[in-house]
This record gives sequence, structure tokens and C-alpha cells, in this order.
Amino acid sequence: MKFTSHETDTLLDILTWRRDVRHFRNTPIPDEARQLLHQAIELSPSVGNSRPWRIIEVESPEARARVIASHEKANADAVTDYCDEEKRKYFELKLAGLREAPLQIAFFTDNNPAAGRGLGRQTMQETLVFSTVTAIHQLWLMARTLNIGVGWVSILEPEKMNATLNVDPDWQFTAYLCIGYPQQQDELPELHRKGWQENEKTSWVSR
Ligand SMILES: Cc1cc2nc3c(=O)[nH]c(=O)nc-3n(C[C@H](O)[C@H](O)[C@H](O)COP(=O)(O)O)c2cc1C
Repeated sequence: MKFTSHETDTLLDILTWRRDVRHFRNTPIPDEARQLLHQAIELSPSVGNSRPWRIIEVESPEARARVIASHEKANADAVTDYCDEEKRKYFELKLAGLREAPLQIAFFTDNNPAAGRGLGRQTMQETLVFSTVTAIHQLWLMARTLNIGVGWVSILEPEKMNATLNVDPDWQFTAYLCIGYPQQQDELPELHRKGWQENEKTSWVSR
């Protein structure tokens, strides 16, 4: 396969218009789109080819209610780190689409996967979590090509997520994604637009 500048331009558009989405329409995700999201994960790289991501689709109203409760608790705790004007601004932010997103997925990492036979991770065990995060990003980009938005929710109680979702207690909770069609599109991050944090240029240093 040889790509051309056409694909480079398309990828740049996808990267430019990828956003973290917190405002969803309740339109369901069609099966064909779900299959492509699965495929994006199947094609992900991982340390030693260990494929340590463990994926739970959170569907039942009971499980979703437990996740919302965890988010509300973690969000209430997080706001105590701020005072006055910052606290007011924090309250104005919407930091999760947990009540609306039609598809919700929890990602865990198996920190002792048989696959890969330990290759590559002896000196950096955290590469297993990095591998899960890489798979998430592949899904994120694939979703964007389908005009589907992804919102990453980390304001949760990580140590309780295994019990909340009744999964293997040895897996490490890594991420929770809200997925659905966005209410709007934008080239700028919402936190930038809402005045919380502007995008600053990354500095590249040479040695
Ligand atoms: C590891 C990770 C965790 C994040 N957790 C949250 C979160 O809990 N709530 C939220 O609203 N956004 C969360 N985000 C989204 C970021 O706020 C967002 O990526 C950033 O503001 C830049 O916006 P953009 O993704 O639209 O470019 C998270 C993003 C990453 C990569």
C-alpha cells in the first residue's frame, strides 16, 4: 500500500476535527460503525503484541447509574482543589456525556497477559497501559471518520470501577469512553472555547 498526499491531507483533517465530545445526540450507533470501531482496536499495536486491553460495553441502566454516581462523587471531590473564580468556572464545564451517550465502553488493562510472553515490558510495566491507550486512540480516530464523537471520562473512582462493573479485580481500570453522534463540531477544544485552557504550542527541544 502506498499512500499519497491526499491521504495525508485527510488524516490531517481527521486530527484537526477530532474533539473530546461531551454533548451527544441520542441517535444509536449502527452495527456497521460498531464493527469498524472494533476493527480499529483489533489493528492496534501493543507491547510484545500482548493485546492487554479488556473491554466492557456498559449497557444496562443499572451499571450506567453506578458509573454516573461514581462520576458525581469524583467530580465533587475534584472541585475542592479549586477556589473562588476557578471553582465557578469548573462548575460551568460539562465534563462527561454519561447521561446521553448511546455507546459507553470501559477499558481495563490486564497487567499480566499471557499473550506476548513478557516481551518488551520487563523494564517498563506501564507499557501495557500505554498499549490500551493506543487502542483507545485508534478507536477515537476511526470514530471521527464515521462522524461519531468520543468523550474520555477519567473523573471516576478508578479503584472502584472493577466492582462497579463486576470485572476481574486484577485488571487495571484505564479509561471510560462515551461514544455517540456529537451535537456540534468544532476545530477548537471545548476547554479552550470555554476559557479554561487554551491550546499552547508544544516546544520541541534538541540535544
Ligand atoms: C487521558 C485523558 C483523560 C481525559 N479525561 C477527561 C474527563 O474526565 N472529562 C473531560 O471532559 N475530558 C477529558 N479528557 C479530554 C480532554 O479534556 C481533552 O482532550 C482536551 O481538553 C483537549 O480537547 P480535544 O480532545 O477536543 O482536543 C481527557 C483526555 C485524555 C487524553
